[in-house]
Amino acid sequence: MIIAIAYFISSALFLLGLRDITHPSTARRGTSLAALGMFIAVVGTLLHQDIVDYRWIVAGLVIGTIIGIPMGLKIPMTKMPERIALSHSFGGIAIALVGVVEYYRHAGVMTAVQMGTIGFEVFFGAVTFTGSLMAFGKLQELLPGRPMTFPKQNIITVGSIAVAIALIFFLVVSPTSTGIFNLLLVLSFVLGVLVVLPIGGADMPVVICLLNSYAGLAASASGFALNNMVLIICGALDGGSGFILALLMCKAMNRSFSNVLFGAFGTVVAAPKSAATAEKPTIRSGTPEEVAQLFKQAKSVIVIPGYGMAVAQAQHTVRELASILEKNGTTVKYAIHPVAGRMPGHMNVLLAEADIPYDKLIDMDDINPEFPHTDISLVIGANDVVNPAAKTDTASPIYGMPILDVESSKLVMVLKRSMNPGFAGIDNELFIRPNTMMVFGDAKQTLLKIT
Ligand code: TAP
Repeated sequence: MIIAIAYFISSALFLLGLRDITHPSTARRGTSLAALGMFIAVVGTLLHQDIVDYRWIVAGLVIGTIIGIPMGLKIPMTKMPERIALSHSFGGIAIALVGVVEYYRHAGVMTAVQMGTIGFEVFFGAVTFTGSLMAFGKLQELLPGRPMTFPKQNIITVGSIAVAIALIFFLVVSPTSTGIFNLLLVLSFVLGVLVVLPIGGADMPVVICLLNSYAGLAASASGFALNNMVLIICGALDGGSGFILALLMCKAMNRSFSNVLFGAFGTVVAAPKSAATAEKPTIRSGTPEEVAQLFKQAKSVIVIPGYGMAVAQAQHTVRELASILEKNGTTVKYAIHPVAGRMPGHMNVLLAEADIPYDKLIDMDDINPEFPHTDISLVIGANDVVNPAAKTDTASPIYGMPILDVESSKLVMVLKRSMNPGFAGIDNELFIRPNTMMVFGDAKQTLLKIT
């Protein structure tokens, strides 16, 4: 009874937490509620009468804490996607192993439903494990970040998924076929590699969300197998929200879901150099002093933060500059691209940390019509999300992705260290446009000088 109440409370806390994280002003409370829900679920589970020996559990707790606390404290915000990929892989392997143990303990006495759920649990758990490790490798640049393809890849992947599902059905009919179970396990590990290999470049956000979804589905399946209500609910929430986020990311990049999964987006295309690039364009660069003079006359400024702002940790300096500009009578707004940075909501989190009011953070669709009436667009460490090639260059790997229309403002100032490309690895013609001024250097140092 106590366990059922604990699971009920924790499920309610997960739901409240999810509701709260839908808005920046309540997101912090949302994560605390969800963490409390998880704590109650764990305590409830530890009260289970079936536990006869706590020694292994304590050992796991100690090892997990020793690894988890430094991971949580030391890994910087810019490395969040890598950390999340690793967490998903831990979750995936844990769930797959639970499935393996359940199978070997009870295969002889299992009902068809239990066998089916264990099959799906092992399948999703193993796919999540190797898939997340591949995603980690790509994000950490241990593996090539671009999509990796081989002949007939899609046919082989889809065929392997069909075989895995057929193996699960076979196990439902004949649960004691351990050879088939082992084959399913190995095939699922291989599938994790196959599904992530062909995705890369700017599509990595979708992969992370999808793996999130797979981990949730695996947890939910294990909930059915173990008859554990909180796992079913928590896994379904995780699986559902991960899937919705993946769809939102696809929408943000104007890409269809199937195209992301099977289209090998981000393949490095031998970039047809534009006439302007081929002719060694003149790059107009300015000093912080010149920038400061131009700011004095500006009536409206839109700040476009990107991954470089996160690397430089320049969010507090951005706020200081904005305060000075506002005292000078300039209106300052912030344009938020849905995939700016390296995780969903990355820019919102950083700007909120610097106490920039939420009502000044404006989404792409709402801010784009404002650029033509804006004096200065201040691009801070953003690159792909302001690349006009997405609108004009059909050969570009980011063609079709909606971008922030900064080029239509009167003056664009770009704060970055070099002419190097961003995450998608492609040149950006914005930097050589006549109304663009490059201000080279670390974003925080440059902003400090301007301020
Ligand atoms: P990017 O296109 O990655 O460009 C970031 C730019 O920041 C780089 O060109 C770099 O140029 C500059 N930079 C790095 N360190 C800097 C520093 N200390 N000071 C100043 N500039 C610095 O960033 P974006 O425009 O935000 O676009 C995000 C990209 O990441 C998209 O392609 C997106 O698809 C992908 N992605 C997004 C996510 C999510 S969910 N947001 C997850 C994974 C991948 P220099 O080296 O010349 O300084």
